[in-house]
This record gives sequence, structure tokens and C-alpha cells, in this order.
Amino acid sequence: MRIVLLGAPGAGKGTQSQRLVERLGIPQISTGDLLRSAVARGSELGRQAREAMEGGRLVDDSLVLGMIRERLGERDARRGFILDGFPRNLAQAHALERLLEQLRQPLDAVVQLEVDYRELVRRISGRRTCADCGRVFNLLTSPPAASASQLCPKTGAPHRLVQRPDDNEATVAERLRVYDEKTRPLVDFYRARGLLRVIDAQAEVGEVTRRLYQALGVRMARKARPAKAARRSPRRAAHKGAARPKAANRRAAPRRKPARPASRASASRTSRAKPRTRVPQRPRRKR
Ligand code: AP5
Repeated sequence: MRIVLLGAPGAGKGTQSQRLVERLGIPQISTGDLLRSAVARGSELGRQAREAMEGGRLVDDSLVLGMIRERLGERDARRGFILDGFPRNLAQAHALERLLEQLRQPLDAVVQLEVDYRELVRRISGRRTCADCGRVFNLLTSPPAASASQLCPKTGAPHRLVQRPDDNEATVAERLRVYDEKTRPLVDFYRARGLLRVIDAQAEVGEVTRRLYQALGVRMARKARPAKAARRSPRRAAHKGAARPKAANRRAAPRRKPARPASRASASRTSRAKPRTRVPQRPRRKR
């Protein structure tokens, strides 16, 4: 699938792209991430982009288009892609259309994530990124858990949270203004081409994912289910030598009540309990 995610800063484009990557196995192409990594590397492109990014303005079209052309030409993009944060204005949208025509890879859908202004500001102010693995958190809605299961996969230590330099109040106001002026017109551009789907993205992350999948006609991934034999009777399955259900499935098996410590009286009751009766085997018939 070839998808564009449109939406204001903080609408959840990056968050939902990640989920689509996992579900569809196609790459996320985020011009913001590509530019930030160029800035971090100190490349010529990064040097030219830095000032505009810090001011909340759009980076020059020629720089961004060169980057996109190169990225869409890579092998993994042949199976499809999710464009996150591109295109950002009409000139970029026209250039993308021409490029995809040349590549014979037209877009399948453009999804606009709608979130109101106050919520956008709230989300951006709480956003933090792990400086080591790049995972995005939110201090208000999805902070990293304190448990050991949420250690940074790169360092094995707790995530080192940093705030994006353009997530400060003044820059956010400018980014939102630029969005309204330059990017919002793309809604009509793609509507006219019959590609647009709009979803209300002001809901809990999982619910937004459900709406997004519905808009794209993608089925939600099924939860893992225990093996058939284990579903019928976990004990019988074990007896039959069936493979142990995976951890997730084990949780799904019915729980037994924890055994009470036996009092003497109950212990003696237990010892007097009826002995287990054995079902006599039926003698085999001789032929
Ligand atoms: P870019 O990196 O593209 O930033 P952006 O468009 O401003 O978008 P954000 O990354 O801020 O938000 P998002 O929608 O991805 O939200 P996220 O999922 O992170 O661009 C940065 C700069 O680069 C631009 O200003 C420009 O200078 C330059 N640039 C980039 N592309 C360009 C282009 N094509 N042309 C020219 N210049 C370009 O979510 C935000 C937070 O909310 C997170 O903390 C997340 O955990 C949380 N969250 C997400 N969903 C939910 C939810 N449903 N409920 C509660 N919290 C949520």
C-alpha cells in the first residue's frame, strides 16, 4: 500500500505510522526524521535545513524533494510506503504526483488525522524521545513504565528522555500557523483526486489505530490464541505431549483457585476422601 498521512504537528502521524509499519511491513518515510538525522550528522543538507526547522518554518522544497526522490528509489519502498510529514505544500504534492507517475506507483490513500488545536499543543508539550533508541513517549499520555521490561533496547538502561528542540512554545505556534497556511490546502487537493479519507484522531491511541485501519480497509491483527488442543483442555494437551502454549496463551488458560493451606480437620477429610475409581479397560475383542 502507498499511503500519505496528513495532519498538524502532534496529530499522531509518527505514532500511527509505526503501527502501520508493524502491521503492513512497509517502511515509514518521515521527512522530519530524515532531516533531524541530517542535522545530527552535521551534513551539508542538515546545515541548510537547521535554521528553518528551529524556526518552525518549512525547509526548502528542493532539499526535501531531493531527499524523497532518493528514499523512494530504495528497494524496500517498492512494496509500498507510508509518507509521514510529506508532502507539506502544493508544490511538494504536485512533485510527488509526477515522481510516482514516473515510478508507476500511484498513491492508494491519503488519510487526514483531525485533532483540535488545544489537544495538539498538549500532546506536543508532553512529547519526549529516547535519545538512544528514538522511541517516542508522552509524559501525560504514555510515559515510559518503570518496569525492567521497558528498558532502552539499545543501552539496556532506562530510556534517556529528551525534548525536541522545536517543541518549545514559540516554535510550536509557528509550526501550527505554517500548517494552516501551507499544508491544510492539501486536504482539498487530495479530495479532488478521490484519495482523501478523514478520521477523528482525538481519541486514545489504540482507538485512532482502529479508525485508521478502517479508513484504509486494513484488518486489525488477531490476538494470539492458544493451540486448539490446549483450548479444549490444557491438562489433556500436556498429557498428549502437545507443545506448551506460549506465554500469552498460558495467561488465557483458565486459572485454578490458589490452594488453601489445609487445616488438620480438612487434611483428615482429604485422607478419607473417596479413592479415585479407575475405569476398567474394556477387554479387546479377539478376532
Ligand atoms: P516533523 O517531524 O514532520 O513534525 P510535525 O509534522 O510537526 O509532526 P510531529 O512529529 O510534531 O507530530 P506527529 O503528528 O508525528 O505526532 P506524534 O505521533 O509524534 O517536522 C519537523 C520539521 O521538519 C518541520 O517543522 C519542518 O521544519 C521540517 N520538515 C519536515 N518535513 C518537511 C517537508 N516535507 N517540507 C519542508 N520541511 C519539512 O505524536 C505527538 C505526541 O502525542 C507524542 O508524544 C505521542 O506519544 C502523543 N500521541 C500520539 N497520538 C496520541 C493520542 N491518540 N492520544 C494522546 N497522545 C498521543
